[in-house]
Amino acid sequence: MKVTVFGTGYVGLVQGAVLADVGHDVICVDVDAAKVAALQAGRIPIHEPGLEPLVQANQAAGRLRFTTDAAQGVAHGELIFLAVGTPPDEDGSADLQHVLAVARTIATHMTAPKTIVNKSTVPVGTADKVADTVRKVLETRGVALAFEVVSNPEFLKEGAAVADCKRPDRIVIGTRAPQAERQLRELYAPFNRNHDRIVMMDVRSAELTKYAANAMLATKISFINEMANLAEQLGADIEDVRRGLGSDPRIGYHFIYPGVGYGGSCFPKDVKALIHTAQSIGFTPDLLLAVESRNDAQRQLLARRIIAHYGGNLRGKTIAVWGLAFKPETDDMREAPSRYLLQSLWAAGAQVRAHDPAAMDEARRIFGERDDLVLCGSPTEALEGADALAIVTEWKIFRVPDFAQMAHALHDRMVFDGRNLYDPETITRFGLGYVSIGRAPVV
Ligand code: UGA
Repeated sequence: MKVTVFGTGYVGLVQGAVLADVGHDVICVDVDAAKVAALQAGRIPIHEPGLEPLVQANQAAGRLRFTTDAAQGVAHGELIFLAVGTPPDEDGSADLQHVLAVARTIATHMTAPKTIVNKSTVPVGTADKVADTVRKVLETRGVALAFEVVSNPEFLKEGAAVADCKRPDRIVIGTRAPQAERQLRELYAPFNRNHDRIVMMDVRSAELTKYAANAMLATKISFINEMANLAEQLGADIEDVRRGLGSDPRIGYHFIYPGVGYGGSCFPKDVKALIHTAQSIGFTPDLLLAVESRNDAQRQLLARRIIAHYGGNLRGKTIAVWGLAFKPETDDMREAPSRYLLQSLWAAGAQVRAHDPAAMDEARRIFGERDDLVLCGSPTEALEGADALAIVTEWKIFRVPDFAQMAHALHDRMVFDGRNLYDPETITRFGLGYVSIGRAPVV
């Protein structure tokens, strides 16, 4: 099928490449000329396992093209995906300006019927707004053309985006229009073998399903973080509690890892936006408000512990930080817990030596040159001359460090672990103090 994707961010780029890979003819459109030029040359602007070879192979096969030419994009696709960003507005609501701008572009250039498929995470009611926008432009142009607006939310995770997109757990399609349903079933047929993953529903339910899924996962994380804080006060070990909980299949092991709070470009933004949607219709979302406030507190926890350990002041102290990306296998630092940690450490007067396996360029871009930050080429280099270590992201290479060398390098022999990477008994055997989440501190 002929498909056009507007927006070459995580969602658009991965979706475009994966659709091309099963044989569809895909054009990706973006307003960012530099990004499009890089993509045309087969260079991927983000760190995402498996994406670069996938894009290059499909480009070479002629099934995947990139352009800034919106008119060409609109002419090409019988199905046109909206995969542009919906950043949070001042008040936490999702900013729809990019989505509606693309809707206007489509309506301005279309000369044949189109099915517009929204992949961006957008508040309930957005499909109707997109439809209104398209209708108005078509009226102004004085042309009568059929179109449908479908909601087809994306559930991929960064760091596993290609795999998630190739093997979706479910394909949610929100439309009641039989023709649009037929088209999307045909489009997704290669992903829908063995058992039926397609869940058909009306467009508003599909829009809400996306928010409900992310809010549910954020709730699990805030719940386990609350239990971790309780465990600590009660002399229990959250890692044992977690295993005890997860073994109940109704609860499951996923998303009950305690830590430094959820970050990234989705959970914080989507929980906020859903709160805003609820409040805007006079509904008080008690549970979501609690999920968010627990997360705000959890993001501060590690810094608060480090500062408390040093009696409220970090002047003259150097803290090594392992992990800057909001999670492993990505260079994404949007809403990363590391950013909250670093700001607090700096505010308390600390010097920071940081390492991340993927996010060093991103950190340089975000923080620029600062006297109180040294970006280090390896985990061991970050430890050199540091007093204590703080761990923020659970990259694999941090899991089995040389504890003897760590104890030797850190002046104060203290490790503050925001991800519970180590067995307290093992690490403390090397003479290291160990403060983690939801377990008794050893200092
Ligand atoms: C999330 C969802 O998992 C995807 O299904 C969804 O499609 C995506 O948002 C989106 O809306 O686009 P993502 O933000 O890439 O994906 O990352 P996650 O793996 O979900 O992690 C989110 C945050 O939760 C991270 O900061 C992670 O460290 C934290 N987390 C996750 C925990 O603290 N504990 C856990 O047990 C799991």
